[in-house]
Amino acid sequence: MPTATLNPEIEAEADRLLRSLMHVECDPRGRTWNLATCREIAPLTLEINRLKKKKDAVILTHSYVEPEIIYGVGDFKGDSYHLSLMAKQAKAKIIVFAGVVFMAETAKILSPDAIVVVPDRGSGCSLADSIDGDGVRRLKALYPDATVVCYINSTAEVKAESDVCVTSGNVYHIVANLPARRILFVPDRLMADNVRTELKRRGVDKEIISSDGTCLVHDQFTPAQIAEARAQFPGLKVVAHPECTEDVAKLADFVGSTGAMMKYVKTTPAPYFLLLTECGLVGRLEVEAPEKRFIGGCRLCPYMKLNSLEKIRDALRAPRPDQIVTLDEGLRVRAAACIERMFQLSPVD
Ligand code: 13P
Ligand code: SF4
Repeated sequence: MPTATLNPEIEAEADRLLRSLMHVECDPRGRTWNLATCREIAPLTLEINRLKKKKDAVILTHSYVEPEIIYGVGDFKGDSYHLSLMAKQAKAKIIVFAGVVFMAETAKILSPDAIVVVPDRGSGCSLADSIDGDGVRRLKALYPDATVVCYINSTAEVKAESDVCVTSGNVYHIVANLPARRILFVPDRLMADNVRTELKRRGVDKEIISSDGTCLVHDQFTPAQIAEARAQFPGLKVVAHPECTEDVAKLADFVGSTGAMMKYVKTTPAPYFLLLTECGLVGRLEVEAPEKRFIGGCRLCPYMKLNSLEKIRDALRAPRPDQIVTLDEGLRVRAAACIERMFQLSPVD
């Protein structure tokens, strides 16, 4: 059998990819990350990385997108809070946001001079899509004395109607320290429940009224799942996101943002971990903490999984109009004030 000629550039790129991706077992498409898989995607990652330099672009990646995007072409990775900071500080002409639309909108709000590109316009979010500006205005009319707090998983229009934005990483701290007693919290009802309970535990007196959104990934986890897993794996640590139900959060050993969950797993000795969040986070930890063991099935965010290397490449070659985020300037300025207030009130980490 004649041996195929190897292209040294592709081989070097495949080796680079393999060094990161070889530990990924939790792959949504069931791929095995070996040299052959890395060789297949190497031409694409090479082209994207070349296009980034040529066009002065950076790629921001949320931890829920596929690992070959995060480790193959991403410049920054993290949770919503850290990615919004990165977007604010970015100096590049083009920001490609491999995440979901509300994240790309947040980047545009904070970096208005950049061309902000979203690989797939269909990458919504069940929370962000649960309420619009009219919905918030209606609630404000019912509770005119409330301070309006919006979770970052919301549209630019909702942010423009709100007093302060929060993320899963700073929500307890910010809400606890707001002067108002009455808080109108949009759009996550389950996060509002968790904040209410946690602040009560801390002895902080707040009335929290919420709208009715939930995350279609996190609202699926149940206390029964945790009980079953604990019975099967003694010493197990359960790590949950604050978008989970209160009953689930109460049973977890740790509740926090995806960034805080990663930190907890990396620094906590335990034989097994159950991560109650989107599966992409397990993939990230398999790369960055390969000695840790994870149990449990995989829950995927269908919106995050719309991102792909091909769509990123096409958007960098020539973005279609639907891939470019545009915002009305008056609305952008109001939404920016709500996010800037979050930066001012966030705990230093
Ligand atoms: P994080 O900010 O914790 O990464 O959460 C974003 C998100 O969409 C969780 O579902
Ligand atoms: Fe939205 Fe849930 Fe997907 Fe996060 S995981 S982007 S909250 S639908």
